[in-house]
Amino acid sequence: MRVLGIETSCDETGVAIYDSEEGLISEALYSQIDLHIEYGGVVPELASRDHIRKTIPLIKQVLVDSKKPIDAIAYTQGPGLMGALMVGAAIGRSLAMAWGVPALGIHHMEGHLLAPMLENPAPEFPFIALLVSGGHTQLVDVQGIGKYRLLGDSLDDAAGEAFDKAAKMLGLSYPGGPQVAKLASKGTPGRFKFPRPMTNRPGLDFSFSGLKTFTLNTIASERDKDNLDGQTRADIAYAFEEAVVDTLAIKCRRAIQQTGISSLIIAGGVSANRSLRKKLEEMVVDENARLYFPRPEYCTDNGVMIAFAGCQRLLAGETSGLQFSAQPRWPIDELKPAANV
Ligand code: KG4
Ligand code: ZN
Repeated sequence: MRVLGIETSCDETGVAIYDSEEGLISEALYSQIDLHIEYGGVVPELASRDHIRKTIPLIKQVLVDSKKPIDAIAYTQGPGLMGALMVGAAIGRSLAMAWGVPALGIHHMEGHLLAPMLENPAPEFPFIALLVSGGHTQLVDVQGIGKYRLLGDSLDDAAGEAFDKAAKMLGLSYPGGPQVAKLASKGTPGRFKFPRPMTNRPGLDFSFSGLKTFTLNTIASERDKDNLDGQTRADIAYAFEEAVVDTLAIKCRRAIQQTGISSLIIAGGVSANRSLRKKLEEMVVDENARLYFPRPEYCTDNGVMIAFAGCQRLLAGETSGLQFSAQPRWPIDELKPAANV
């Protein structure tokens, strides 16, 4: 089965063609970073308008590489920005009707969660998924496609959101995660010590808003001392990243110990972070477990993960019928297992 995938949930227009027999056929991605950078974050209305401009040209581009017809279309149905989601859903559903093929709305985080399966070796079920993106920090027990049990969730800011806010405080541009990571690589270990939120009590939930306040206070106090030079900023970025990474690693270790599941996958934008990967690599060796992650370009938003997730569910006979909807809020544990997987 050959599936066209369309991702427009936030600030990236991603489209791809994935074939169940032949694998990835083609992909195209357009990032809106330049559009939003002057506002310091994503402006939803601008995002929607840009998806309208870019989605069809990108689809035309990937179709050139597909020598065979498309059998079905998968589009991101949620969670994400309402207007942005509507663009991909409307285009996906309409094209499917015009071509006389089935269409299916896909959960964006399920796309992220299955992305490590595009790699070789691919993880096998069951596994624990750490989903770390701009909007989510979740630990999920994954028994199969659609068989998700939420083990832990963010009570306030997501990890990516915390990175983005820390970046702003440090005078860095959007999207902040990669910028903070770059600055942190020049930081001095041990100069600042940041808290590891919620690691002293049991449970697998996350909270990063206190860390954000701690960062803000540290910056203010260094500024008061007239001490906020480039090196100090780098040292603060280092301490911040180290605290987030440590906290995530502590919770992942706990999830492995609690469930007895020995495969861990990480996915979502923050999973591109090198320090996080390194820390988790060390942790899984200790726990006799294995770590899987997507290549960096499939950590952040892309059309490939939607085409892949769509292909798995469409193969199982699932379709969305003629109606379509966009779901800005959509808890991942509301998903149902694909029909026969
Ligand atoms: O998955 P994603 O592309 O979009 C959402 O679904 O939210 O994740 C974007 C998030 C942003 O907050 C961005 O700052 C963060 O992922 N991010 C990173 C890195 N690359 C992207 N955070 C830390 N380190 C990185 N290398
Ligand atoms: Zn995402």
